[in-house]
Amino acid sequence: MNKEILKKILIGDGFYSDLKISKKDLCLFKKEVSNQYLMRIKRIYPDLYKEAERLQIKNYHLLKNINHNKLWHKKYRCLQQKSISLIKKTNFFKDLERIFGKFKLSKVAYDSSFSLKRDEIYWRIVRPNNDNDIGEYHADKWFHELMNDNHKAIPKNMISIKLWLPLVHKLKSNDLLLVPMSHKKNYDYEIIDSPNGKKPVLKTNLRGRQMLEKPNTVLIFNENMIHKGSINKDRYTRISAEITILIKNDIIKLL
Ligand SMILES: [Fe+2]
Repeated sequence: MNKEILKKILIGDGFYSDLKISKKDLCLFKKEVSNQYLMRIKRIYPDLYKEAERLQIKNYHLLKNINHNKLWHKKYRCLQQKSISLIKKTNFFKDLERIFGKFKLSKVAYDSSFSLKRDEIYWRIVRPNNDNDIGEYHADKWFHELMNDNHKAIPKNMISIKLWLPLVHKLKSNDLLLVPMSHKKNYDYEIIDSPNGKKPVLKTNLRGRQMLEKPNTVLIFNENMIHKGSINKDRYTRISAEITILIKNDIIKLL
């Protein structure tokens, strides 16, 4: 493992933004996501399939008469295990093992239910200038606490670290926002009912910053870090992938 990077994420600034991903590995991610995207369109809107294929996922917002919320419930954005098996063989995953040592992936979870046999890697789809497509500021830990019935989401002896991978985006203007050093503070939040189940909502107004500086890099951050997606100011639909990795919590003692 790489103690310096782990220290930065778990004890220091709370994030690391210098991990590179090769174009080849990015292409694999994009291909697996695009295939799942097209299969979903084909199933719900078969008449739009050819047009969706021609436009590509980055021009999704140009498809007419789409019920976005119906199409893209989280369960339709969790990659199939066969895609995840391919992704696990990439050099990118080997780099992750070099940083974190042996790790596990979190399991598929939505609407307070779990698929304990499926690893979770899911993607997000954010149309240009559409604030309905982004969530509120939150820490992932709040969701884990909300869903962690019998420690199914995060086993007792483990901590989680989030990876955010931009697949279609514009660097420095269209990324995830992190609130610097927020992982060191305790913010009040309340639990509200939303169409997608219960969710935590922050009671304070905060301002985040975009942390990615270099092309083909991913953002890795602490489970207590407050974050949200920025409004997409690009002319293309933003696509990103999220991975939650789990490592033993006694690693902290070694840092
Ligand atoms: Fe999150």
